Formats: sequence, structure tokens, C-alpha cells
Amino acid sequence: MTTKCFVLLIALAGCVYGKSNYKLCVPAPYLKDCQQMLDVETKSKAIIECVPARDRVECLSYIQQRQADFVPVDPEDMYVASKLPNQDFVVFQEFRTEDEPDAEFRYQAVIVVHKDLPINSLDQLKGLKSCHTGVNRNVGYKIPLTMLMKRSIFPKMNDHSISPKENELRALSTFFKQSCIVGTWSPDVKTTSAWKSQYNQLCALCQHPDKCDYPDDYSGYEGALRCLAHNGGEVAFTKVFYVHKFFGLPLGTIPAKPSPENPTDFRYLCVDGTKVPVGGKPCTWAARPWQGLIGHNDILAQLSPLREKVKQLADAGATSKPDWFTKVLGLSEKMHHVTDNIPIKPTAYLSKANYTDVIERGHGAPELVVRMCVTSNVALAKCRSMSTFAFSRDIRPILDCVQQSSEEECLKSVQDNGSDLTSVDDLGVASASKKYGLHPVFHEVYGEKKTPNYAVAVVKKGTAYNNIEDLRGKRSCHNSYGSFSGLHAPLFYLINKGKISTNSNECVKGIGDFFSRGSCIPGVDKPEYNPKGTDVSSLKKLCTTDNTPLKCLQDERADVAFVSSADLHNYDESQYELLCLNRETGGRDALSKYTTCNIAMAPSRTFLAAKTSISDVSIAHTPLSLAQLLDTRIDLFNIYGEYLKNNNIIFNNAATGLQTTEKLDFEKFKTIHDVISNCGIA
Ligand SMILES: *[C@@H]1O[C@H](CO)[C@@H](O)[C@H](O)[C@H]1NC(C)=O
Ligand SMILES: *[C@@H]1O[C@H](CO)[C@@H](O)[C@H](O)[C@H]1NC(C)=O
Repeated sequence: MTTKCFVLLIALAGCVYGKSNYKLCVPAPYLKDCQQMLDVETKSKAIIECVPARDRVECLSYIQQRQADFVPVDPEDMYVASKLPNQDFVVFQEFRTEDEPDAEFRYQAVIVVHKDLPINSLDQLKGLKSCHTGVNRNVGYKIPLTMLMKRSIFPKMNDHSISPKENELRALSTFFKQSCIVGTWSPDVKTTSAWKSQYNQLCALCQHPDKCDYPDDYSGYEGALRCLAHNGGEVAFTKVFYVHKFFGLPLGTIPAKPSPENPTDFRYLCVDGTKVPVGGKPCTWAARPWQGLIGHNDILAQLSPLREKVKQLADAGATSKPDWFTKVLGLSEKMHHVTDNIPIKPTAYLSKANYTDVIERGHGAPELVVRMCVTSNVALAKCRSMSTFAFSRDIRPILDCVQQSSEEECLKSVQDNGSDLTSVDDLGVASASKKYGLHPVFHEVYGEKKTPNYAVAVVKKGTAYNNIEDLRGKRSCHNSYGSFSGLHAPLFYLINKGKISTNSNECVKGIGDFFSRGSCIPGVDKPEYNPKGTDVSSLKKLCTTDNTPLKCLQDERADVAFVSSADLHNYDESQYELLCLNRETGGRDALSKYTTCNIAMAPSRTFLAAKTSISDVSIAHTPLSLAQLLDTRIDLFNIYGEYLKNNNIIFNNAATGLQTTEKLDFEKFKTIHDVISNCGIA
């Protein structure tokens, strides 16, 4: 709030005329939408200002530091907010549905059973056939697990030789006789399919047990009830709203509807083991609170104008649903009934729904922790922020952060079990594995296609080169000395194809002998790369002031450019194409075909682990799940973006995802590393 109401007279004037300024924090990509929202005419004269931040996580810090006043959030973000030091957040408006404007919670988790099911305690759920909405979902998975794991009869989930997720799946498949829990069980495709065959009872009650994925008639809120009523299920975990819908019962503003299903055949099962009729007051376990607006405590001094303004904006956008409606205010098609609540701290807001228990759900002591080693204060801050965010979204193991002074120290720390993972760039994946006995677990991928980068050879269209031999005696330009695409990949290729001798320490010079009309490898003459003072003049012969390989091709100073697929967006597809040196027969292809037409796959920034008691699946689970969750939601937390004005912190800015590393690719990088090490480089 820029208006300072506590400054007496001016303040009164400001308040009376309602000319209050409120800073709404908005993820930077939505700033335009926010500005469009400001053009909307409302009766309220309260003035909103749009303050851009990196993402919602940064918005929370902005509010805490008074750079902004409020932001729309999910209950999970309220949890993140509550963990910031010295925070004084308040939740002051809820976004409810038009269907249930008077409901206290967005949804309430219930257990539905057949009326004659002979049980009178939750423990007797053991051995039954269970129906769920899907893996990782609130009422069908997280809430039942939170509740069941408190009971001593439920299998323990703290076996650290398998991942927390596998512990859950194993416990559920042991506890229930058969189930239907569809979905992506692991962010790694191979792990999901391995688990689906190992724990196949968890899919047995599905319509398509072999697929065990969406869409399935027996998945989702209503599907769980269908599974109960028509597919042999004995207990269903779903939410009240859909129980009413399934049985045609009235709820909120929704009238009763005819339904072929008979509610009198079913009961809600309560915590104490009693049963109550479906349609009456349900006994619930936990609820998911409504989304809403969160601000700092100072906002309470002048809340009404803002609340009115938000309500009027919500009404103004309700019919046409402009982009700002969802992106900026966080409202949606279904949820746009804005309700004032008594301002409440986020922790209290979550606790009254029992939702804190659900968010903090563990696996029994000792909780598995995966320690990431980082080398700077800013990386440490980012790691901690990622840790809280992932934790709020039920992603386990818990991520912990360890700081060391350098990459070397981090590698040693992983080797000595002071931490569990750390990252290296380029061929560091091969040298670090060799030196410290580490192995790659996952790596970054780039671009829209989410692939590693590739070292590629670019040639001008209409030229006659089709294979490496055609390039002998020609001219080459390269990305700089020390880069994989500019030096390591072409050098390895030439050596591997027998075009350059490896007998001497002078294989780099061999590049010059092959491309005998000259080359440009920027940096080749730096003393640190050339301690023996080998004559490398032919390798810088083509260099000018602008050493980019693209410029070199454009000026027709070279016949081929050795670059990375990451650079290709700068190249004109109508003028240049790729030489497919990876193919036995050579040939050419369009620039966009770099995954199949290249010299070699380049090592991404890769995260390494040691062989310890924690499995790779466990180590990869948290970062990969986080990447998967944020794939379509960088507005929540842009983990690849600039972080506090720093680049490439933990992840490269250019990364667009994370992927499990294949052993075969790793072996190739080791081979390349070995070969070029013999040349005295890398
Ligand atoms: C929270 O848990 C208590 C005790 O288990 C239960 O009685 C209550 O209904 C739960 N609250 C909600 C909102 O489900
Ligand atoms: C590694 O360190 C952790 C944390 O100190 C410890 O719990 C674990 O037992 C250690 N693992 C090995 C294999 O020593």
C-alpha cells in the first residue's frame, strides 16, 4: 500500500475517497495481462498497480519485503509463505465456486463403503478392494495415506533402500487386496512401468489394468464411486461434491437430479469406524481449503477498498474470462465467487482443514533426505527455496542443501557421503566420474523438444559436401576452444574415423592438417591451452574480430561450422543445413533434424551421485518431479530462470526440463573423454 493511512489528515482523505494504491504481484510473463486488467472500469476507485516478479515464489518474498502487497495463491503456496522467516502473511479473500459459495472448504475427503460392509474400525480396511481417484491426488491418495499411516496396522514406509514413492505403493499394495490407482507413478517412464508390473494389484480394479492410466472409467472422483458400485470395489476415496453428483443428491445451489445409482446402498465411513448415510452430513478426514488472496499484515489497515475492487474485477471478468482473470487474479471458470473471510494467518487457514497434516505427510522416521551440494550463497538460497516448494507439493524425498566452496569440493563431498548429488557441465561428467567414482543420475534437457544438445556440422545449402572426406582440405570454423561442439566432438570424430593421428600430443594440430586451408577455433592460441607453444597458426588463420561460426559462414570464410544445436536458432533454415556425420553414409538434413543428423550428443549439465544406500530413483525423484510439475507452470516457480539476477544457478537458464541419464550415453561420453584426454586436453 502506498497510501499511508496512518499519516493522519492526508490519510483520512485517501481513505474516504477510496483512492488507495495496492500493489498486486504478478509473474513476469503475465505483466501484460495485468496491465490489461487495469483498464477495466469498476465502480471502486481503488488503484491497483502491477508489480512483476520472477514467479509466485518470488512474489511471496516481495510481499514480505513490502515491494508488493498481495498475490493470489493455492493452499500449497500459503504453506510456502508460512515458512518464510519473519513473515506476517494473512489470507483475506477466498475464491469459491458458484456451486458452493457457502462451503467452508473447496473439497472434503470422504470414505464411501457399501452399507453392509462388516467393519467397525478403520483397521478393518485392511485386505479390502479400494477405489481411488489417481496417484498423488488429494482426496484419493494423499489424504487416505496421511490418515492410514497413522495406524499401526498400516505397513511401514521408511525403507530407505527404495524410494519414498515406492514405499507408498508397496504399503498400499500390501494393505489393500486390490485397487485402482491410475496415473504417472514416477516422473521416469521406465520406473513407472517397472512399478506397475511389480505392484500390479494397484491396477487390478481399473477398467484397463494393463494401462492403469487416464482415462479410465474407474478413475477420478466419480470413477472411484463407479469402481465401488460396479467393479467390485469395497471402499472408495473421493470427495463430497462428487458423491452428491454421482447419486443425484442436491448440494449447495445445485438441485437434485435423477440418477440410476442408489445412495441408500452406501455409507460414509467415519474416523471412529461408524457409518453415516450418504447425503447427510458427511464425516470427513481433511479438506482442501479454497484458493485465495494472501497479503502482508499491513494491508489489514485498509482492506475494504481492495476487497471491493477484487470482487468487482471478478464480476467484470466472469462472462468473458479474459486472460488476466486466470493468470493475474488466479480465478477460474469454476472458481470466481470471491468471498471475504476473517483475515487469518496461512498456518491457521491450513490447519482448520487438517491440510497441514496432508502437506507435511511423511513416511515415518527417519525421513529420507537427499542432500544437494551447491557452491554459492545464491545457489544455497535457491536450493532451499526449491526444497520448501517441492515439500509443499508433496514431493519426496525431502531436498536438503549443502554448500561447499567449489565444484571440486562438492564432488568430494558426494564421494565422502557429505551430500548426495551435485552437478557438472560438459565432459565433467566423465572426468568427475573417473576421479571421484561418481555416476550420472539425471541431466538437463533443452529447447521445446526437451532434448540434450548435439554437436553439429553446418554447411551452406547447395554445396557438395556429403561426408567427412569431402571436407578434407577445406576450411572450418568452430565454437570456442574447450567447448564440446567446437572442439571435443569434431576432434573425437576425426580421431575415431582415423583422419587424425593420435600418436602425438598434437592431435589438435591435426585438425589444422585436415582442414588444410585453415580454421578458426577461437581461443586456441591462449597460453593455458598451448603450454608447449605448438604451432597452431592454421587453427586461427580464419579468425577475425567477429569469431562466431555463423559470421564465418556468412562471410564465406569457411565451408563448415562446428557448433551446438543450441546455436541453430540463429541460422537461416533456407540457407544452411546439417551434415549428418553420425550416419555411415553421410548426407544432409534440415537444421531442425539435429537429433538424428549430428556429430554426437553433447553432455548436458549432469547431476552425479555416489553408490550409497540411497537409490538413484530416490535421488532423481524430487528434482524430476519438480521439473515435471513446473513444466507447464513456470509462473509458480521458474527454476530455470534468472535467480536474483544471477544466471545458471543450479540449472542453466537455457534448460527446459530434466531427464534420467541413460547408461549408454554416459559410456559414449567416457569414450570421447578418454580419446581426447590422450591428446592432452579435457
Ligand atoms: C479434521 O480432523 C478431525 C479429527 O480427525 C475431524 O473430526 C475433522 O472433521 C477434520 N476436519 C475436516 C475439515 O475434515
Ligand atoms: C551417509 O550420511 C548419512 C547422513 O549423515 C547417513 O545417515 C548415512 O548412513 C551415510 N551413509 C553411508 C553409506 O555411510
